[in-house]
Amino acid sequence: MGETSVVQKVADEIRVLSEPQGAAPPPAVSVAGGPADTAEQPDGGLPAQAGASSGPSRPAGAAMDPGTNPATSSAPNTMTSTATKAAEPAVSPHPYASMLREKRLASEANGRARRETLLYLDGVTKSFDGFKAINNLSLVIEKGEMRAIIGPNGAGKTTMMDIITGKTRPDKGEVFFNGDVDLTHHDEAAIASMGIGRKFQKPTVFESHTVEDNIRLSLAGPRSVLEALVHRKDAAERDRIEAILETTRLTARRATIAGGLSHGQKQWLEIGMLLAQDPELLLVDEPVAGMTDAETEETARLLREIARTRSVVVVEHDMHFVRELGVKVTCLHEGSVLSEGTLDKVSADPKVIEVYLGR
Ligand SMILES: Nc1ncnc2c1ncn2[C@@H]1O[C@H](COP(=O)(O)OP(=O)(O)OP(=O)(O)O)[C@@H](O)[C@H]1O
Ligand SMILES: [Mg+2]
Repeated sequence: MGETSVVQKVADEIRVLSEPQGAAPPPAVSVAGGPADTAEQPDGGLPAQAGASSGPSRPAGAAMDPGTNPATSSAPNTMTSTATKAAEPAVSPHPYASMLREKRLASEANGRARRETLLYLDGVTKSFDGFKAINNLSLVIEKGEMRAIIGPNGAGKTTMMDIITGKTRPDKGEVFFNGDVDLTHHDEAAIASMGIGRKFQKPTVFESHTVEDNIRLSLAGPRSVLEALVHRKDAAERDRIEAILETTRLTARRATIAGGLSHGQKQWLEIGMLLAQDPELLLVDEPVAGMTDAETEETARLLREIARTRSVVVVEHDMHFVRELGVKVTCLHEGSVLSEGTLDKVSADPKVIEVYLGR
């Protein structure tokens, strides 16, 4: 019974507050319990604070919408229900409030984009003696994606890889891996151990060791080279070596001394050595330079296979090879993204044609 009377009392109060207010303002017994003057909008811009300071919850946006209705905003003192009080203030948002809100939404969207991607570069700039090799570069690579990067000599392709791998520190801009790992705060060794493998243009294999031992040495991790060569019995390790030899088309060459491989095979071996470290992202700089046509085509197949289980960024000038990859292409020029999309779209882009013909 006591409960009923409390409910009744609250209902009565609500009714009182719902009734049209005459000249006399309602008593300052605000149902919400907040400051009695929250209904007042002295500068008409108060929705800003509500919107700008609200956390991730949606009501901030809801509170703005009623204000866009001129009917509500023109009659602020009539028929004010508790429901509209909750969604108040019913006035048009101040332009500054709208700007803050848009900024907040944009920054939330950026944060989301960053968290959902594998590699996120935004506004990255790097100068060498005043020359901007990378200039406000923004690029996003999705998890599991393979991306081809093209662009004329000096476009900044290798410098971009240097920045991602911690070899070069950008002057400004954001470089994030896996959402929240700020790569600009880590050195090369740390970045490699986080799962970013990089293949330089020139193959660097242990020339006097066999193909199989090259891969075994790369699998070694923290073990010493001697331990890696002596400790050969691990079945899981054997399986991994077999898988890598197969992927890199080197099974039949496993016992060959690496120094005796063709240039293309050395490139594949180096890719295999990177795979041994199980990177989540593989960066490959001009892998088919100097390869035969057959090796080039095989390399495209090989990379496509690798990209089934990890992300790959390939820099290459050979357009036939890029076409074989069949992936999204980004064209860099003077340190920025000039064009992005399918190879057909990018190569038909007048800006791209101009920079290629103009060199
Ligand atoms: N350490 C450095 N010191 C000075 N200038 C540099 C350095 N690294 C790169 N650059 C300059 O930055 C620009 C971009 O070079 P980068 O090697 O990134 O180009 P790229 O797109 O990889 O070209 P390429 O297709 O010829 O390999 C070039 O003008 C280069 O001379
Ligand atoms: Mg380069």
